[in-house]
Order: sequence, then structure tokens, then C-alpha cells
Amino acid sequence: MLELKNIKKSYDNKLTIIENFNLDIKQGEFVVIVGPSGCGKSTLLRMIAGLEDITSGQLLLNSKDISNYEPSKRDVAMVFQDYALYPHMNVFENLAFGLRIKNVEDSVIKEKVLKAAAMLDLTTYLERKPSDLSGGQRQRVAMGRAIVKDAKIFLFDEPLSNLDAKLRHKMRAEIKKFHLDQKGTSVYVTHDQLEALTLADKLVVIRAGVIEQVGSPQEVFNNPRNSFVGEFIGTPAMNLLEVDLEYRDGGVFAIGKNRAFVFKLPENKTKFNTEKKQSPKKAVLGIRPTDIVLHSTEEAGWNAKFEVLFSELLGHEANLILKYADGEMNSLIPAMHMPQDLKSAEFYFKLHFAHIFDVTTGSNLNL
Ligand SMILES: Nc1ncnc2c1ncn2[C@@H]1O[C@H](COP(=O)(O)OP(=O)(O)OP(=O)(O)O)[C@@H](O)[C@H]1O
Ligand SMILES: [Mg+2]
Repeated sequence: MLELKNIKKSYDNKLTIIENFNLDIKQGEFVVIVGPSGCGKSTLLRMIAGLEDITSGQLLLNSKDISNYEPSKRDVAMVFQDYALYPHMNVFENLAFGLRIKNVEDSVIKEKVLKAAAMLDLTTYLERKPSDLSGGQRQRVAMGRAIVKDAKIFLFDEPLSNLDAKLRHKMRAEIKKFHLDQKGTSVYVTHDQLEALTLADKLVVIRAGVIEQVGSPQEVFNNPRNSFVGEFIGTPAMNLLEVDLEYRDGGVFAIGKNRAFVFKLPENKTKFNTEKKQSPKKAVLGIRPTDIVLHSTEEAGWNAKFEVLFSELLGHEANLILKYADGEMNSLIPAMHMPQDLKSAEFYFKLHFAHIFDVTTGSNLNL
């Protein structure tokens, strides 16, 4: 439905913010674009909305080039990161504005505004001016302004960043419900990887204006294309451990710094897809904190002892910070399994879920 073809954005012909951006968005899809602050997410949405020029490339809607269309001709509704509310209008009028300029009937406006307000928990604030609202309430008004429109494409720019944890959870569900009811197409931008995982049909991970990976949340989580994606998606973040690789006894061994561990890699992790077709001598072992568990009798050979520097209780789970050579690694375990003696506990690495990344490029050598 919406195609971004070779989109590039630069300012003053010098500073390039987005490059080589290619993305297909299907009708009815919920696409989440996730990446660190400053990577170009808002710029991308603003280009889709028509609020920012595209330096080169094409934006196609149902195969028609809309790159030069006025924002009002694009049939998109956008929730702005900085809210963009009208300060002199109360909440009701802010919500109603987009419909008023389209000459929608008063009774229809009222119905739509009240429905959106109920969904967003704003019913009691309809008479207030934006200046008399909290940040989270303003953010919900910004969302309401987009929701009341019957647009084909909804663009959300970090619409939940100012809400508390409980409200954020509730709103996340509301947005997904709204999307499903509306049968519209949504492009949602966030730097919050949990929001991205929970909302997306299609997840797009970007770094410095370049796409690092596109896939379903599960694909991206289970098979990160490189160490950046591996570390960015999932919390606590994936441990990235530099290892030496040794080829002996018919296998491949990953050896941690100061020989903190010597693991024979499982068969499925020993086929390396390197550019130079050589067996690498060094690599980065990526392993999620949930895949480092307390000593288990499962299979010998993937155990190693570490000192626990400290632990963070997260409710059901505890995050253990382990001393590793000159750095640290995390292990996330059920809180009830907290070891008595933290000085030195033995951990089991579920290596069949680990990833081997190239030391220089970071690319996943097992894919
Ligand atoms: N008018 C401008 N001139 C020059 N650079 C700009 C301009 N507008 C934005 N930028 C730069 O473009 C980059 C991307 O900005 P953008 O707002 O798209 O990031 P973002 O991914 O939305 O970040 P955040 O998560 O913090 O909202 C930033 O480095 C920003 O400084
Ligand atoms: Mg932004």
C-alpha cells in the first residue's frame, strides 16, 4: 500500500539523516520503527505526512507517487511527539478541530470526540486548556486528535513516552484495539523496544537513518542480523562477550577472556557465514541474560563459575550482575532461585540460543 523507495533526507545537502531507506507497508499492517534517540524516526514520519521534504527517492501510495502532495491530500493522521496542541482551545475543541475544518456535522463531531475521550480517559478534562494538563494528559489529547479522523494511515510518534507504566500498558492495548477496529494502516515510532515488540506486526530496527533489520518481532528477537539489533531488542540487553575461537577435537571452542569459560559450541553455531570464507579466530558471543541460568545438570561443559557483584530484584525475577574479566554480564533468573552464596555461583549457558557475531562488522555469522 505504502512504499518508501530509496528515501534519502539530508539538510543543506550536507548532513544526511536518512539514507537508502526502502520499506513496504501493507494495508492493515501495524509497522513499528524502533531505534535510538536521534536516528531519524520523527524525520521519517514527517516525510510520510508531507511535513518535511524528501531529498531524493519516492513515496508511493497504492503505486502513485505522492512525494509532492500537500499534507492534507495524503489522508494521514499523525500524533506528534511534541503534541502540537492549540493552547487557546480546550480539550474538546482540540479534539474536534480536524473535523471542524472538514465541515463535519456537529452531532457527528460530538459523538467522535466523546468516544475518543472515553478511550483515552479524558472525559473529565474536556473543558480544560492544554496548559492545565499534565504531560501525560496532553499526550493523550495529541493521540485523540489523530484518532477522531478517519484517515487511511495513522502515524504515531512516540505517543506513550510521557505516561506512567500502568497507563502505558493500558494505552498500548487501546492503540492496538483501535488499529484493529479501524482496519487502517499504522506506522508507529518509538525508542522503547518493549513497545515495539508488543505492538508490531512488522518491526523495523533502524540506526543512524539506516535499516538494520525488518521482520516479525519474533524473527528479530530470535535471529538478530547483527549485534546492534541483538543488544537493542530485549531487556536486560543481550550480553556481548568477546571470545577466542579454537578449532580442535572436531569442534569449535569459544574461550572467554582470562579463560573465564571454555565452551564447545553446539553444532548449529559452528557454521560461519564469513565474507572471507576463513574461519574466524575471534568473535563476539551474544547470549541473552535469560539464557544464563544457575548451574544445571542438563549438560556438562557449558557451566562456568562467576562472582555475583550485586543483584537487582525485579519482582518475579532477579537480575544478577556477574563479574567477567574486566567487565560484567547479566543473568536473569527466577527470584526464588537466588543463590545463598553470591561470592561464587556456577552458571549454565544455553548455548543453542546464543549467537556468534563478527568482531568488526557485528554481523551474525550463524545466519
Ligand atoms: N532542521 C534540521 N536541521 C539539521 N538537522 C536536523 C534538523 N531536524 C532534525 N535534525 C537532525 O536529524 C536527526 C534525526 O532527528 P529525528 O528528530 O528524526 O530523530 P528521532 O529518531 O525522532 O529522535 P528522538 O527519539 O529523540 O525523537 C537528529 O540528529 C537531528 O539533530
Ligand atoms: Mg523523534
